[in-house]
Amino acid sequence: MSEKPVLVFDSGIGGLSVLRELRARMPDRRYVYVVDDAAFPYGDWEEAALLARIVDMFSGLVRDHDPALAVIACNTASTLVLPALRARFDLPFVGTVPAIKPAAEQTRSGLISVLATPGTVRRDYTRGLVESFARDCEVQLVGSPRLAAMAEAHMRGDRARPETLLSEISPCFVESGTRKTDIVVLACTHYPFLVGAFRKVAPWPVDWLDPAEAIARQAERLMADTPSSLPEGFDRAIFTAGHPDYPARRLVHGFGLTAEG
Ligand code: DGL
Repeated sequence: MSEKPVLVFDSGIGGLSVLRELRARMPDRRYVYVVDDAAFPYGDWEEAALLARIVDMFSGLVRDHDPALAVIACNTASTLVLPALRARFDLPFVGTVPAIKPAAEQTRSGLISVLATPGTVRRDYTRGLVESFARDCEVQLVGSPRLAAMAEAHMRGDRARPETLLSEISPCFVESGTRKTDIVVLACTHYPFLVGAFRKVAPWPVDWLDPAEAIARQAERLMADTPSSLPEGFDRAIFTAGHPDYPARRLVHGFGLTAEG
């Protein structure tokens, strides 16, 4: 049976951290993974230009792949483009937004940090989440200009230097009297791939909150009435820059994806 795929979208490899949870919950689905590497990193883009680019690109993606559902596996994109995508295309979208609400519910010290790209930190949407759900907490928004690229390199075997990682994450670690930050929200889908390295250099142990499982749960709910079959063979990864190099092809292959330019 040929079925409509689940389309998973990110500027790079970050969405693979979401894809692995989607597969764990919905192994019987076909996936198309779209990497907008031509525009990486999204964290540096000006908002209007990024919004126009993604909406425009989705016209082609929806036409070519006719997905049953699209997962925007990128905080930098989701905090900006979800309303425009939902208004324009007749399919369900699941976004990835900073897990500020669960962090505020779970913190014991009242000090939480949100580690994201500079773009996500700038968004009104992110500030709105803090206003709506974390008013009683002290929230540190930390936009790292380097970590997404470091995660890309790390996943291709170019390990990040511990002192560089520490300097990127250290603003997340705040002390106030006897209280310390106890939760760091991983608000960029690239960062879960670095979390093992973060743990090694962190000034003290914290809970690193990765929203991938919650996203997969929401996707599963939305797909509940769509028939599925266990598709044979590999799913596809599409790179917008074309001609992915061997390390990129090998990397996505490890996630059960065949790379296409
Ligand atoms: N993976 C993306 C996110 O979740 C960001 C990476 C980038 O800067 O392009 O925000």
